[in-house]
Amino acid sequence: MRYVLNIISKHAFSKETDYDETLKDVGFFSNVYYPIHRINQLMAISFATSLSNILAPISYLIKLALQRDYDTLLQQLNSIYNEHLSTLDPENPRDLCDLMIVSNYEKEFIINTCYDMYTGLDTILHTLEWSLLMLNNYPIKSMKLLVDNNNNKSPNLNAFILEVFRYRPTAILSFPRRCTQDTIIGDFFYPKDSLVGGNIDSINHDPDYFDDPFTFDPQRFVNPPIGELNNKDNLCHFGVGPRMCLGANLAMDTLYTAISNIILGFKVTGPNGEYQFLDEAEQVKIFSAPKNHSYLLIPRVLSD
Ligand code: HEM
Repeated sequence: MRYVLNIISKHAFSKETDYDETLKDVGFFSNVYYPIHRINQLMAISFATSLSNILAPISYLIKLALQRDYDTLLQQLNSIYNEHLSTLDPENPRDLCDLMIVSNYEKEFIINTCYDMYTGLDTILHTLEWSLLMLNNYPIKSMKLLVDNNNNKSPNLNAFILEVFRYRPTAILSFPRRCTQDTIIGDFFYPKDSLVGGNIDSINHDPDYFDDPFTFDPQRFVNPPIGELNNKDNLCHFGVGPRMCLGANLAMDTLYTAISNIILGFKVTGPNGEYQFLDEAEQVKIFSAPKNHSYLLIPRVLSD
């Protein structure tokens, strides 16, 4: 999680947390990560309680708590912004925040845009957790990834990442949208103001597009080898259209770097150092994540 937090924070503000900093220390980790984490958790509960009128009082209390965390976070981002303003060298912008100041964007817009980058924190984090679980559960299939590990565009590794996205997408639904007018899609009629959203999980398991969709098989994207990854356009992991994910490239690079380093350096095993198939059931908060499993990462030797 610190790895993902640091990558996003460096892009946005040139900030990072020390690896030994804990939530008890007053620093970047507790000031920025903790409120974001709480906001994500409270949003999930708030969504669940908003589905029933009986739970309206709870929903109200959650909204108050959400506002408090949001205010704390904004206070932090505000002071990071002010620090940037006072140390800015317009000829040498350090990060997104500097670039936006130099481009004369308004303060509120800059802070909100930098905050938006943290949208990617949980999605990348949970995709990494799913990847670790798949490396543990399917070691033979994972071994194929070592074949072309010197190439940083390894088709096998990209196929593995796509298959993790397909098999266990973290964003199982796209963001909800409101119909601005009566709309007909296929056989369905959506009156104006209906809330609609894409079901990413269902698209990615559609047997019309993916053979044997409930089997984890990265090779589906590389067989037969045609130089490019197969069938990837039928996958919907970052959404589609003009409002699709803005952080897709950053997410792919972050995942590629982390997973390739894990594969090259370690064998992923169950907690006792032996092969053990671990439960693939998901826990859904706002995003889908695997259960909390423990692993042992054993350093690779040449014969591996
Ligand atoms: C594995 C990582 C990620 C996944 C699976 C993911 C997935 C998604 C999905 C499904 C959407 C909704 C698209 C729609 O409703 O049609 C979305 C939107 C968005 N994502 Fe990501 N995302 C990831 C990482 C990131 C990162 C790293 C960032 C920022 C640096 C980011 C920023 C955004 C933003 C700003 C939007 C809203 C775009 C808009 O409404 O115009 N995401 N993402």
